[in-house]
Amino acid sequence: MTMFRRVKYKSEAEFAKLKESAKVVAVTLAEVAKCIKPGVPLTYLDQIGEQCIRDHHAIPSFKGYEGYPAALCLSVNDVVVHGIPYPNQYLRDGDIISVDCGAVLNGYHGDFCYTFEVGEVSKEVHALCQRTKESLYKAIEVAKAGNTIGDIGYTVERYVSQFNYGVVRELCGHGIGKDMHERPDIPNYGAKGSGQRIEPGMCICIEPMINMGTHKIVMENDGWTIRTRDHKPSAHYEHQLIITEHGTEVISSYKLLGEVIGTEELY
Ligand code: MF3
Ligand code: CO
Repeated sequence: MTMFRRVKYKSEAEFAKLKESAKVVAVTLAEVAKCIKPGVPLTYLDQIGEQCIRDHHAIPSFKGYEGYPAALCLSVNDVVVHGIPYPNQYLRDGDIISVDCGAVLNGYHGDFCYTFEVGEVSKEVHALCQRTKESLYKAIEVAKAGNTIGDIGYTVERYVSQFNYGVVRELCGHGIGKDMHERPDIPNYGAKGSGQRIEPGMCICIEPMINMGTHKIVMENDGWTIRTRDHKPSAHYEHQLIITEHGTEVISSYKLLGEVIGTEELY
């Protein structure tokens, strides 16, 4: 029995459009990166992001999605994901902020995310960010045709468990294309060899959400903001990949934002 039929496989022409959309997100994250420092209001970052997306003739896909009110999800410290930029919220030295950005261009979606450090962060928090990003890179290594979706989650979970971090279970990565969220779901946990087989034609977003403490989360009354239950920090990175006949290609990129913040980024 399979419930895996509803993946929308993409053509080469569609892959080309997805790459263009991902490029808009890459440029936008770099523009936002330029503004990340202590004292900056979250609403300003959101304005910069939205303007950049629109300057590239794209549409911020998060805005209005199931009523979400902003262009970016800005998730600070114990906010895991879906942080709404509220007025009178300012970045502080030592914060981490995940900037999640989605843009739709020519009908195809780009969606990825990076967690930035604000000023000087503690060694523990820096390690959380680095290891979360490493878990994503290890997952990308196994995200190839012939392996399964379960191999991705297994890889993330196995890597971060050595640090006693919590893997968020309620939220997943996803397929992406004409819709921001397509099949399959891509959990950050799982058993080796389980789930759907990864095949050419897929475009997927892998997005580990890793907590320094408990894996447990709570949602705020706004229906969006997800926090860690113990209020310890959480990191979130997301890359967007295509699976082709010739292998896997990461179509998202941190290179531009890396130039801004002075980091050497693999993808
Ligand atoms: N970026 C999220 C994801 O990767 C989706 C955010 S939806 C929003 O799946 F409405 F909160 F913006
Ligand atoms: Co996503």
